[in-house]
Parts: sequence; structure tokens; C-alpha cells
Amino acid sequence: FNVPVAVNEPVKTYAPGSPEREQVQKAFKEMYQSTVDIPLYIGGKEVRTGSTKNLFPPFDHQHHLGTYHTATQDLIQDAINAALEARVKWSQMAWEHRASIFLKAAELIAGPYRAKLNAATMIAQGKTVHQAEIDSACELIDFLRFNVQYMTEIYKQQPISAKGIWNRVEQRPLEGFVYAITPFNFTAIAGNLPSCVAMMGNVVVWKPAATQIYSANVIVEIFKKAGLPDGVINVIYGDSSMITNTILESADFAGIHFTGSTGVFNDFWKTIGNNIHKYKTYPRIVGETGGKDFVWAHPSSNAKEVATALSRGAFEYQGQKCSAASRAYIPASLWEEIKNFVIEDVKSFKMGSTEDMSNFVSAVISEGSFDKLAKAIDDAKASTEAEIVVGGGYDKSKGWFIEPTVIVTTNPKYDTMERELFGPVLTVYVYEDDKWEDSLKLVDSTSEYALTGAIFSGCRYAIETATKALENAAGNFYINDKPTGAVVGQQPFGGARGSGTNDKAGSMINLLRWVSPRTIKETF
Ligand code: ALA
Repeated sequence: FNVPVAVNEPVKTYAPGSPEREQVQKAFKEMYQSTVDIPLYIGGKEVRTGSTKNLFPPFDHQHHLGTYHTATQDLIQDAINAALEARVKWSQMAWEHRASIFLKAAELIAGPYRAKLNAATMIAQGKTVHQAEIDSACELIDFLRFNVQYMTEIYKQQPISAKGIWNRVEQRPLEGFVYAITPFNFTAIAGNLPSCVAMMGNVVVWKPAATQIYSANVIVEIFKKAGLPDGVINVIYGDSSMITNTILESADFAGIHFTGSTGVFNDFWKTIGNNIHKYKTYPRIVGETGGKDFVWAHPSSNAKEVATALSRGAFEYQGQKCSAASRAYIPASLWEEIKNFVIEDVKSFKMGSTEDMSNFVSAVISEGSFDKLAKAIDDAKASTEAEIVVGGGYDKSKGWFIEPTVIVTTNPKYDTMERELFGPVLTVYVYEDDKWEDSLKLVDSTSEYALTGAIFSGCRYAIETATKALENAAGNFYINDKPTGAVVGQQPFGGARGSGTNDKAGSMINLLRWVSPRTIKETF
């Protein structure tokens, strides 16, 4: 069980004149000037159906990046069959050989593919180079390396035996195939969800979000180059409900590894429940869903630190992280100071294409997202309970641009204090200092989600009180830090309530969902 000890991949700076900056700029230019024609990937073969959809960068919806092909129902069945065929050998392959493939993929991303994968994420998902680097390079590399280590730790754990008896546990793959569904906002999640399932000896049918296909296709190339056998991970695109319904009808459906919206995940539970008698085995249902993540400040907190957590936590990557700060509870005595710091910081943010590396924010992912955010901003402008303190502008003439916006409200249950918007809109409620303990009840009761949250205080009594009062309010709880930016191996990630099954991405807990152990007792 000797594997290389996992260490976090260092984040490169992309400082002007650095080699990494030149490499990513070159990759960006080359990719932006050419077009792609992305096939499905079934049983190791590229499949072009002729039924295609177009791809555009969110910051310039007139720029054609190319097309991707969409699957028919028959091809989805082909993908399932290819997975099951691959399972025969893959499920028997010694763990060292499976591990080696994913360790090699990590090295390919760390080296020759880093610029290409980062550029793809910058182009298709609108991430700045820094946000792309911490996602599609470092976090994905970390997932691959740390999961290999967790895998060996799982295999190592064995029950005790007694004289004349040998007890052992075989961590077998699930019987069937697993369906992986990944969201647009993290290329690392695209790489992790299918790979950690496959690492444990399973086979996968993977459907990335349409707005992620461009970078998912680079991941497919990397896994292939790393030596992943044909059919272990099959990739399909197209009509979500048709794909899902076909997959969830299959007797061999053994589990779902999902990141996306709470509503979609709820629908999976219902359909799986209705189909339960069709399956050979109870499917594993693992999902990370929405968030309405809080920042709470005690009167003893440092105004500048809180302000930085708000502007970075809410607006990095246009607030399109499930972990993004989107509701804040600030004591009246600190509000003026925090507000001024946040306004100053937000006004310094440059917005535009991700090709210009001096931009701090870019466009939101789609027109649907733009419209939802613009409406929330208009509603705040018209409301007697809300006021916009910075931002509030939007423009979709070239890309889906929404200005980082801070709303302050007099109603702690105001619409945008409760509702997930998944964009650069932060809502603040200012509470009376002497009501700080009551304000914790508001934090806990206002949202259906429990993904991330941050508290700020210089007083240990307040930290202890808040930590207890909010014990169920966030699966990732930060003390005196912003609620985003979990690092694999350091802060296993995930939440409960409406935020998912809390099977912590990048942890042994998650990998254990992808095995079906057999306990063997042998008597001598
Ligand atoms: N894991 C990501 C973060 O912590 C979503 O920001």
C-alpha cells in the first residue's frame, strides 16, 4: 500500500513576464482563434451524430467556439453497454494500475496540459486566470492525488481476526455503472466526479453541463492520454431529461454522483424511488447541490477582514460558486466602516473578457442566469425594503455582464437573503449590536441550505456561541475567513440540508460510497 504521499499542487502566480502567463496566453489565443467539433465519447470511440449545438464564451456571445454533438436514446444505451463491457476487466484490475492512471493524469495536468485546461476554463466558463488555476489545475490535481491516497487507506483497513479464523473485507466496485453529472462552475468537479468513482473500480457514464463541454473535452483527452481503458468513462451530451430518463430506467444503474441544483437532485430522488424495483441493487445517491452561504460578523470583529471576506467571497468568479458568500449579517456599529471598505474594493474591480488578465470579474455563465440576476437587481431597486449600495448595473450587448452588486435590506427574510441566485449579488442585513445572539437564529433559520458559512469575531465567547448555534447551518464552517476556497486534503467539502448528501468531495467518506464491500470469514 505504498503510494506517493499526496501534497497540494502549488498555485502559480501568473505574474507579468512569468512563463506560465506566456503559456496560458498562447493557449488562449490559439484556442480562441480555432473552432472545435466535440464528439461524444463512447467505448473509447469518438461519435459524431450530426445533431449539433453551438458553443460561445459567456463574455462574447457572438464569438463562435465550435459545436458539440448530441446523443440519441440509442447512443445512451450504447454508452451504458460500453461501460458494462469495460467493467469486466476494469473491476478486476489491481488497484495499483488504476491508481497509476489517475496519478499520471495529475502529472499531465500539472505539466503539459496545464495551460490548455486553464485556457479552456477561462474561455468557456469565464474564469479569470487565477480562478482557473485554483480550479482546473490545482484542485483537480489535488483531487486525483489525494483520492489515490484515500483509496489505499480504504483498502488497508481490515477487521481483526482470531486464532484459526481469517476475517477480511474486499472493497468491491458497485454492481453496474454509475451516472456522473457535473456543473459548469468547476472544471475540477468535472474531472473529479467521474474519476473518483472509476478509481474504485467502477465504470461511468458522464454528462457534463452544456456550458462545461468545452473544458470537459480536454479532460477526456487527458484521461485517454493517461491510459484510461476504453469504456471506463463514457461521455455523453444532449437533452438532459432524455439522457437521465434513459439512464434511470436501466437495471444496471448503480449510483449517481451529482453536483448541480437542488431541484434537479430532488427530481433524481423521485425518479429513482419510482424505478426502485427495476434495479439489481439499491443505487448510491451522492449529491452536492445549492447554497445560500452566510457571513456573520460579531461587533468585536475586524471591519477590514469582514469586508475583504465579503468582496472576495461574494464576487470572485462572479459569485458562481456554490460556496459564495451571498447573505451577510453585520452589526450596526461596524456597518459604515465595512460598507466603505467593500465599496472601495468593488469599485477597484475591472470587468471584461478573461483574456485581459487585469480583469477581476467577467460575465456570468448564460442568458438565463443574466436575466435572473438582472431581475433580482431591478426588484431591489423598486423595493422599499432594499437599497443598492454598490453596483446594480448590467449589460448583455456583448456578454452576460452583471456588476458586482451589494444590496442592504431592512428585512432579514428579504427575497435575496433566502433565495440562491448563483451570481455576483450579495445581500446584507444590519442588526443591532446587542441582538447578536438573536441574529444567529436568523442565520440558522433563513435558508433551506447548509453548505458554507463564515463567522468573524475577536471574542472567543462569541466564536464558541456562534459555532454551537450554527452547528447545522454549514457543512464547511469558517472562523475569521471567507466561506470559499476549500482545499482538497485540508477542508473536505460538502453540506447537508438542501445542500446535498454531505459526502465530502475529496475525502474517504466520498470514496466509500463507491464500493460494495464483501466480508469474508475463513475458518482453518
Ligand atoms: N469547493 C469550492 C469552494 O470551497 C466550491 O469554494
